Amino acid sequence: MDVLTKHIIFVGGKGGVGKSTTAAAIAHRLSTAGHRTLLVSTDPAHNVGDLFGRTIGGKPVEVAERLVALEIDPQLETERYIAGVKDNIKGVVHSSLMEEVHRQLDTAKASPGADEAALFDKLITIILEERKSFDKIVFDTAPTGHTIRLLSLPELMGVWIHGLLEKRKKTNENYSRLLNDGEPMEDPIYDVLAERQQRFIRVRELLMDCQTTGFLFVLNPERLPILETEKAIDLLHRHSLEVKSIVVNKVLPEHVEGAFWNERKAHEQKYLEMIEQSFNEQEILYVPLLQRDITSFEDLAVFSEQLT
Ligand SMILES: Nc1ncnc2c1ncn2[C@@H]1O[C@H](COP(=O)(O)OP(=O)(O)OP(=O)(O)O)[C@@H](O)[C@H]1O
Ligand SMILES: [Mg+2]
Repeated sequence: MDVLTKHIIFVGGKGGVGKSTTAAAIAHRLSTAGHRTLLVSTDPAHNVGDLFGRTIGGKPVEVAERLVALEIDPQLETERYIAGVKDNIKGVVHSSLMEEVHRQLDTAKASPGADEAALFDKLITIILEERKSFDKIVFDTAPTGHTIRLLSLPELMGVWIHGLLEKRKKTNENYSRLLNDGEPMEDPIYDVLAERQQRFIRVRELLMDCQTTGFLFVLNPERLPILETEKAIDLLHRHSLEVKSIVVNKVLPEHVEGAFWNERKAHEQKYLEMIEQSFNEQEILYVPLLQRDITSFEDLAVFSEQLT
């Protein structure tokens, strides 16, 4: 699959279709092919560790030769993120206000979207920092809606930060005219924001560069996953992110026996045709339904054989 040639690979899709299995299998395959690979799970309901028969935490763990896995814990990241913000404003905000600012930040920690912002920040850090240490970074993402919000965030955040920076520049200009004889004022907050903006811009460039980043969606030959994947691909496209590969997972085996299975197979055929029509711009890989769940490293090796 062409997507395997990319440096950064995002695996997305609806809940339960086989994202984690596919992401782990891809990572396994790439690492055995000689690439230093980092497998990152951004899904709050982690199960990547199970596949490698060990617990993976917020720290990178070497699970096989050339294969490092990392699970991001959104709650822990939120804590870290808020602590980082507190650190940033130290010395900037007057000490009499500090307590109030901290109180507000602690409230923000519990607000909806905080986890996502923190997760996103971590994602950016991984992309910018680990890119040099690994040949391949594979992201196992949370179910569709969440993933898309996350991936469209650089754009949204970019616009938002740009607005903040403009406002701050104006205020600073006003102040410097009034108080500083027109000399520019020092503004650490402006610098922090400007640096963040640079990071966003850089990551956005990497995500939009189809030589560097590949997006892969996993779905099953069923109605809802097809519809949801169509919508997701369309939405990403509107953010200039192109999904060029899909994996159709859990396809019934070629030969099935009995009226029940034949009926199901015929039914599935309809969906397979629908998939071919709907995703005519993507490369499609079919993976059969295996006899049992993929729960061990050995199972994973079998699964990854399918990813050619
Ligand atoms: N081809 C297959 N044959 C048999 N079982 C499979 C196959 N692919 C995945 N499974 C099993 O289906 C279940 C769901 O797979 P997986 O956890 O990879 O999905 P997911 O999309 O990551 O789910 P979630 O949205 O909950 O994160 C697992 O028990 C997995 O072992
Ligand atoms: Mg999963």
